[in-house]
Amino acid sequence: MEPSINLRQAIERRRAARAFKSDVIPSVIIQEILRLGLQAPSGYNLQPWRFIVVRSQENKQKLKACAFDQRQVEEAPVVLICCGDRRVNQSDYIESVIELGKEQEAGMNDAYADFIRSSVPALFENRPCFDSIEAWTNRHTMLSVAYLMIVAQSYGVDSCPMEGFVTRQVKEAFKIPEEVDVCCILAMGYAEEPFKRYGGRFSLQTVCYGETYGDFFEI
Ligand SMILES: Cc1cc2nc3c(=O)[nH]c(=O)nc-3n(C[C@H](O)[C@H](O)[C@H](O)COP(=O)(O)O)c2cc1C
Repeated sequence: MEPSINLRQAIERRRAARAFKSDVIPSVIIQEILRLGLQAPSGYNLQPWRFIVVRSQENKQKLKACAFDQRQVEEAPVVLICCGDRRVNQSDYIESVIELGKEQEAGMNDAYADFIRSSVPALFENRPCFDSIEAWTNRHTMLSVAYLMIVAQSYGVDSCPMEGFVTRQVKEAFKIPEEVDVCCILAMGYAEEPFKRYGGRFSLQTVCYGETYGDFFEI
């Protein structure tokens, strides 16, 4: 199934939708959005993201109550609770990643499998590039969320990423284990007015530096 618009159009058209029509998203499109969203990269291919797909009105109302009553949560036909599982450093999980790699064409070799077996526990123990495992799960899950939003837009499906929720309430209401972080809520559907206005983006010169942080970047 081909997207209705190209990548550049999808990126430029995506806006955080603040209101949704009641129209359902066809299952084949939901499936394709999820399938492609899961193609996001992750450190050691650990894929710590987990998604609770909320479609029932009852559960959306429950989620809305945990999300400062934001209307998008109840209106959108599909709402994802986007989680990151901190337990991906456990040895049985690492073995499942290795197994998956071996099943692929030109599968993973034994040397790389051993490298993963020793490196992942060391990464989680030493944390050279993150302060908490929660920062790590968020890093990866949000990358996948970015993929999901752009892919959704390419199929004409609008979305709204949300951090306006109370973690403790979401975890309790949706039986999310202690070791799993709730990274964001992603409402998906067809935007309804009022449409969100484009807030603009800072220029390349403002956010990109040349060679050293703070130094002028020249194209
Ligand atoms: C991590 C994250 C959390 C956000 N949380 C909310 C939210 O709780 N409610 C909301 O209406 N919009 C939320 N937004 C949407 C932003 O307000 C929006 O992306 C930003 O204003 C830029 O607008 P645009 O996405 O339409 O270009 C969030 C966006 C991100 C990336």
